Amino acid sequence: MRITTVASITLATAVAIVANADSATPSDGLLRIPISRSESFHGTPNSRRLWYSTLRKYGLSRTKSEMESEAISTMPLGDVGSDKEATSQPFQQYYGLVKIGTPPQTVKMQFDTGSSRFVVSTTECAICTGSTSFNRTQSSTFRPGVMPWKIHYGDGSFAEGIVGEDKVTLGTISVESQQLNLVLSESAGFDDDIDGVLGLSFGALSGSTTVFENMMNKDLVDKGIFSFFLGKRSINGGGEVIFGGMDMERVEPGNEITYTPVTNATHWNIDVQNFSVNGVSLSTGTTTSPLRSIVDTGTTLLVGPENWVTWYHSQIKRSRKFRKTWVVPCKGTSSLGVVVEGKTFSVPYEDLAREYIGFGLCFSAVQSSSADYLILGDVFLKNNYVVFDQAEKRVGFAPLKAETKRVTPTDSEDEVMASGRMQEEL
Ligand SMILES: *[C@@H]1O[C@H](CO)[C@@H](O)[C@H](O)[C@H]1NC(C)=O
Ligand SMILES: *[C@@H]1O[C@H](CO)[C@@H](O)[C@H](O)[C@H]1NC(C)=O
Ligand SMILES: *[C@@H]1O[C@H](CO)[C@@H](O)[C@H](O)[C@H]1NC(C)=O
Repeated sequence: MRITTVASITLATAVAIVANADSATPSDGLLRIPISRSESFHGTPNSRRLWYSTLRKYGLSRTKSEMESEAISTMPLGDVGSDKEATSQPFQQYYGLVKIGTPPQTVKMQFDTGSSRFVVSTTECAICTGSTSFNRTQSSTFRPGVMPWKIHYGDGSFAEGIVGEDKVTLGTISVESQQLNLVLSESAGFDDDIDGVLGLSFGALSGSTTVFENMMNKDLVDKGIFSFFLGKRSINGGGEVIFGGMDMERVEPGNEITYTPVTNATHWNIDVQNFSVNGVSLSTGTTTSPLRSIVDTGTTLLVGPENWVTWYHSQIKRSRKFRKTWVVPCKGTSSLGVVVEGKTFSVPYEDLAREYIGFGLCFSAVQSSSADYLILGDVFLKNNYVVFDQAEKRVGFAPLKAETKRVTPTDSEDEVMASGRMQEEL
């Protein structure tokens, strides 16, 4: 089966787990934007679709050999400046409320550190299913641009529209003349309960200026940093993005933020020096070391190079490859350690085994791709506080406070129950 199946998926309406409140008035001078987790299929997880949406976003295949045999066919054929860009909507995502235009229209935007554009669906897009798409004719501050834009994907799906500029408001901060990519048409596979994607990588990824870069350039924030706290399902999946600062109250007492430089300021590229599973470290020569890793809030899983993924599973008893997909025992104790600047940040096993597949086995949160880099998604980020330092070009991590991430019942148990039977595709 090829990645091309993604386009034909019909999505059920996404379910917002938590109602999203407007951002609270900052009492500590920080702009706090609450984020919620949205899921398709009425809460039934489908990790395969999440995996495929990440492959599509990065223009990858499941494996190197698949990439070679399918050659160009899985690459996005985008003409918008970068084949690393995508408007592809993951099927499980953290979103917050953002206002566009004058008077302000409220839309639900995914906060995505893995892309750089502000892409929003419009009321002119008949096929878009976002709940509250943007109507440009109702905004007195909207300025249309001249350039049409279009992204094609190797699987035949596409999104297209026009560019324009308008005022964008997050909580108490308004950014004038933010460049927008308005979606006027798109093929099936993009529909979701979310109205768009608010890119938070470096604008250099696509030659544009992100909302946060505009906030910095216009001195609207104290510091050139923003930080993410992603909540687990067991605490209703809520979370928070802080623009212009961070909140050490989220961090397990006794810990500092450990910073590591961005190696290439397009995506949030960092180097991970080492990994461990249940205390066993990566032996030299197993995979490229350090391993280039992209910190992406818009990806759910950990999607990495084949040799690294194979090493990871070799440390998990009874894990195996089942029709090109890694599956692992649903119950286990082996946590994954990610070593950055000599400090280990962990992911507990309960987040590494996802929905039930059959025979006591679950879909693994770690899956392979044809790339030689790792995409560090929410499975990692919801266990660690993360600071994106745009000004100093570095990323900081600290373990989340234990009480913040306590899980009862565990996320994985939830997912096991929600998923039920073996997926037909497997
Ligand atoms: C968008 O706004 C215009 C002007 O108010 C209105 O005529 C049109 O019906 C709106 N479109 C939709 C789909 O609501
Ligand atoms: C940085 O990333 C961009 C986009 O992926 C790529 O085109 C460029 O070659 C990279 N630069 C270096 C020095 O690796
Ligand atoms: C990972 O750490 C272990 C233990 O410190 C060390 O033996 C091993 O060489 C390291 N692996 C790499 C790839 O650096």
